[in-house]
Amino acid sequence: MSEILTSQADGILTIGFNRPDKKNALTSAMYAALADALEAAESDEAVRVIFFTGSGGAFTAGNDLQDFLNNPPQGDDTPVFRFLRAISTASKPLIAAVSGVAVGVGTTMLLHCDLVYAADDAKLSLPFVNLALVPEAASSLLLPAMVGYHRAAELLLLGEPFTAATAKEYGIVNAVVSGEQLLETAMAAARKIAAKPPTAVRLTKQLLRQSRGDIAGQMAAEGAHFRGQLKSAEAREAMTAFFEKRPPKFS
Ligand code: COA
Repeated sequence: MSEILTSQADGILTIGFNRPDKKNALTSAMYAALADALEAAESDEAVRVIFFTGSGGAFTAGNDLQDFLNNPPQGDDTPVFRFLRAISTASKPLIAAVSGVAVGVGTTMLLHCDLVYAADDAKLSLPFVNLALVPEAASSLLLPAMVGYHRAAELLLLGEPFTAATAKEYGIVNAVVSGEQLLETAMAAARKIAAKPPTAVRLTKQLLRQSRGDIAGQMAAEGAHFRGQLKSAEAREAMTAFFEKRPPKFS
C-alpha cells in the first residue's frame, strides 16, 4: 500500500501519512508524492480544501533519519524542498488533524496550515538542534512571530517535546479534542470551508498571509545551513546514535 494516501470528496483533498511502523517518518519518495499531490491540487478547481492526517496513532516522526544519512537532500528541487515550497505557497486552505507524535517537519508544516486540530495525546517537537540541524520550513521566522521570541527560542534551542495543550496555549493549534473526536472535528471545519465561495476563501487566505514576511527568503537561508549541517560529523553522530539507541556524544 502507498505510504501517502490521497482521496478526494466534496471539495476536500485528504492526504494521509501511511507508514505507521516507522511513525510515518517521511522519505524522499513520500515527499515527492506529497509535492505532486499539492501541486496538482493547486490547479484542480474541484479541490477547495486540503486536509492532512496521520495514521497508526502518529502524525509524523518527521524526516526519515536513515534517508538523511544515506541520501541527504542537497538541491532546491529535491522532493523535500518541493514539498515545503508547495505548503508555503498553497492558495487553498490547509487543515491538519494531529494525533500522536508530530516531530520536526511534522510540527513546522503546521505553521503553514490555516487550521490545526490536535488530539489530547499529540506530542509536538522541534528537535533540529539535537540532530545538529537548523530549523526549516521558515519556522525560524514563523515560530517567533506566532508564539513570541522566548517561547520560540525555548522550543528550538532545547528541542524538547511539548503537549497539545501547550501548542494551543501558544496559538499554533486551534483546538484540542479527544482522539475519538479529532477527525470529525477537523473534517467538520474542512466541510464548512469547502462549501464557501472559493474565490473569497482564496483571497481571504492571501490577505491573511501578506504579513508573514519573506518566507521563501528565510527558507533559502535555513536551507543553506541545513544542507551544510547534514554533511557535518555532529549530525552523523546524532543520527547514528538514534539508530544505535544510545545518547549521542559531541566531542
Ligand atoms: N526516521 C527513521 N525511522 C524512524 C523515525 C525517523 N524520523 N522515527 C521513528 N523511526 C522508526 C524507529 O527507528 C523504529 O523503527 P524500528 O521499529 O525498526 O526500531 C520505529 O520507527 C518506531 O519508533 P520508536 O522510536 O520505537 O517509537 P517511539 O514511540 O518510542 O518514539 C519518536 C517515537 C518519534 C519520539 C522517536 O521514534 C523519535 O524520536 N524519532 C526520531 C524523530 C526525529 O528526530 N525526526 C527528525 C526530525 S528533523
